[in-house]
Amino acid sequence: MKYFIQTFGCQMNEHDSEKMDYLLQGQGYIPVKEVREADVIVVNTCCVREKAEQKFYSFMGRLKALKARYGKIIGVTGCIAQLEKNNIKERLPFVDFSLGPSNIHKITDAIDKALNNIDFMDFSENGYHPGIGSHCIHKKNGLKAFITIMKGCNNFCSYCIVPYVRGREISRHSKDILNEIKMMSDNGVKEIILLGQNVNSYNKGNNDLSFPELLETINEFNGIERIRFVTSHPKDLSPNLIECFGRLEKLCEQIHLPFQAGSDKILRLMNRGYTVKQYIDKITHLRMRCSDIAITSDCIVGFPGEDDDAFNETMELITLLEFDGIFSFVYSPRKYAAASNLPNDVTKEKALERLRHLQTVQKAITIKKNRAMEGKTFQVLVEGASKNSNEELTGRTRTNKIVNFKGKHDMIGSMTDVKIIKGYANSLKGEEP
Ligand code: SAH
Ligand code: SF4
Ligand code: F3S
Repeated sequence: MKYFIQTFGCQMNEHDSEKMDYLLQGQGYIPVKEVREADVIVVNTCCVREKAEQKFYSFMGRLKALKARYGKIIGVTGCIAQLEKNNIKERLPFVDFSLGPSNIHKITDAIDKALNNIDFMDFSENGYHPGIGSHCIHKKNGLKAFITIMKGCNNFCSYCIVPYVRGREISRHSKDILNEIKMMSDNGVKEIILLGQNVNSYNKGNNDLSFPELLETINEFNGIERIRFVTSHPKDLSPNLIECFGRLEKLCEQIHLPFQAGSDKILRLMNRGYTVKQYIDKITHLRMRCSDIAITSDCIVGFPGEDDDAFNETMELITLLEFDGIFSFVYSPRKYAAASNLPNDVTKEKALERLRHLQTVQKAITIKKNRAMEGKTFQVLVEGASKNSNEELTGRTRTNKIVNFKGKHDMIGSMTDVKIIKGYANSLKGEEP
């Protein structure tokens, strides 16, 4: 049997798809590169913004036509599956099985049932995917591995649907995580990326290792050379965690810390739990501990109540803090999320205009920061051949910046020093020093 997984959404979903890959291949299923060639098609979905949902439904349109012509088994997993659990069969009658994000480990059962013409649907929320993380070393190169340390979210930011589709926070036992990391390092993994909606609140209230203690323990592992984590919530970024930067030598100088808005009024409406000043203080503290830390962030424009003053405050924050990069979005009202009831006087045009302005300003800052790296030498984990040219290799600095440089293929998998000769908006060009 041949299968194809189409993944939408965040790293959580990317990793869930890796887990399904692992389970399917364990049962002899063969991955193919084209949807058309597959007998089984799994769509792992995201509903964080309306656009993500639209992409899903248009993809499903294509699958419907394919199924009508060739007969295929089609499954929908992930966040839209959870959101539409009561309506999925009605909206998409040609779907054979559907699994919420907590049930993806039942993928092979679901397909077996579908092969026997029995629909399989499971959206229970207390499931886990026990013990399959360790086998899911990052598809691309075997050097980097994601590992889920917690799932769900208790924050209920007023714009966000994630708590409604991923459920409440549950942390995995540190023993299980550490066992998996040991197996990963035995298999040649050099970089570990700890995953969760809000990794800073790992084991909050539990009698187990705290997040900084978990980092400290991983830092002692032989073979592991880099540790990263995603995503962090500013309100839970504790002084203890900040102190880990610059102290734990394997913890990379990089953090993704979404601020969402630069106005206290909007942050309150978003239910974010911090003020602009508190956010700035955390960044200042991070940079004091670790002066070369790269900081990226997320930001939403066009949130209800965002007048010109509020947007200007967001722009001031961006100019003041000079992030290495920002993922910016126009606010998209989501079912269940509290803000979907707020009247919004920001027009779509206005929001798009703000987004374009923000992105132009940020792009200049990103380029400035990347150019400041020119002439300096950085350690790069060489991850593979570059997409652009056969003679080039690609890798990342500890600050998570992509570097392309000329080099021999036998360098793939190594840590090597690369001198940066040019900084662009999305990558750096380097050469062997
Ligand atoms: N758990 C992570 C990421 C959540 S989703 C965190 O809290 O940081 C990723 C980003 O999508 C968010 O940081 C936010 O900037 C954006 N986002 C979430 N819901 C949104 C919505 N309804 N409209 C627009 N952007 C949204
Ligand atoms: Fe959504 Fe907020 Fe939770 Fe992030 S912290 S997943 S933005 S509710
Ligand atoms: Fe999307 Fe679900 Fe991730 S809604 S952003 S795939 S948690």
